[in-house]
Amino acid sequence: MDLQSHRFLSYFEPPQAAELCQLAIMEHFSPQAVIFEESEIPDCLYLVLEGEVEFSKRIGPQQYQTIALASPDEFFGEFGVLDGQPRSARAIACGPVTLAKIPRDQLMDILDRSPGRVVLKLFGHIIQYLRYTTERYVSQIVHKQKMALVGEMVNTIVHDFKSPFTGIQLSSSMLKEMHPDEETVEWCDLIQAQVMRMSAMAEEVLEFTRGSTVLEKKPLRLSDIIQRFKKLNNIYFTNANVDFVLEVEDAVIAADENKLMRVWQNIVGNAVDAFENRRGRVSIAAVTKDQWVEIKIADNGPGIPEAIRDRLFEPFVTFGKRSGTGLGTAIAKSIIDAHGGQIWFESSAESGTTFYIILPLFQESIPISE
Ligand SMILES: Nc1ncnc2c1ncn2[C@@H]1O[C@H](COP(=O)(O)OP(=O)(O)OP(=O)(O)O)[C@@H](O)[C@H]1O
Ligand SMILES: [Mg+2]
Repeated sequence: MDLQSHRFLSYFEPPQAAELCQLAIMEHFSPQAVIFEESEIPDCLYLVLEGEVEFSKRIGPQQYQTIALASPDEFFGEFGVLDGQPRSARAIACGPVTLAKIPRDQLMDILDRSPGRVVLKLFGHIIQYLRYTTERYVSQIVHKQKMALVGEMVNTIVHDFKSPFTGIQLSSSMLKEMHPDEETVEWCDLIQAQVMRMSAMAEEVLEFTRGSTVLEKKPLRLSDIIQRFKKLNNIYFTNANVDFVLEVEDAVIAADENKLMRVWQNIVGNAVDAFENRRGRVSIAAVTKDQWVEIKIADNGPGIPEAIRDRLFEPFVTFGKRSGTGLGTAIAKSIIDAHGGQIWFESSAESGTTFYIILPLFQESIPISE
């Protein structure tokens, strides 16, 4: 954009706007160039004409947290210009950036000669910016505290469940030994597998609240994992009146089986919840495309409520469930992301919901990374 049409100049009367244009020094920055450092003494205000500028605060040695972005037609650095205090954040060019710099002393002089309404407009901008950053800060704090709380809760649950879990495992092993017939052994194995899944689930929520997803990847056949998922959940589907259909092409992926089980469990579990005991159908289909496998998990339920569609994958977004924590889809996404894949969905009240997941196929030539 050109300097004359920048929003900042529209705050001023035409003579002062023209004066500011004369004073402005155009400067180009290459990607990643530092525009100013945190704690630097401010000497000018910047108008963004091209590109994006990122602001970040130092939170540790060599560690920065992004706090805001500025795009063309926006301006920054006004706080330092007005109060003369050191810069509170570092500014970096995201890509190629063009800025118009207005020197502090001259700007203060023009402001001094401008009518009150000019200063009011500048004030309006500053207040809006403060509101925005305060809201962001508060929601980050609330989010952190919620995560810490869930983490604490799950920690207690994991601890308290250890002995009953061991009890169930031991009892089913004994039962197997006492009645080694095929059917009893199969049921006992199912009990043990489910108990192990329960503790794995709790561990995973714990991991998620700590913000880390550690994978134990192995080359796996996708159809085997999904068949196992079906077997572990057959009773659950029958009781919930749900037809569960599979159409999975053979594909080998480098994956953490337990974690992927959590993904199916969360996505399919949500579909089953949404039927609310009415008869329903859930299908999992997978096809390979180039270096990827695309997995479609579809249901013919009522669709995801519109109110949460934009934020579905955020933690604690839940709707219409008495016991929902809103972590299921957030965990699913964190697992798919950690596998180098992607997840998205389409949903409508008429045709139900379909989740799409793509995962990279296993390639012998590429070593499996953790
Ligand atoms: N297939 C679906 N059909 C209809 N609504 C869905 C579907 N999947 C998700 N939802 C809606 O999205 C919300 C968020 O799902 P998510 O799995 O993230 O959390 P939750 O199920 O509420 O809680 P949690 O999974 O932690 O027990 C659900 O509460 C539900 O309202
Ligand atoms: Mg859920």
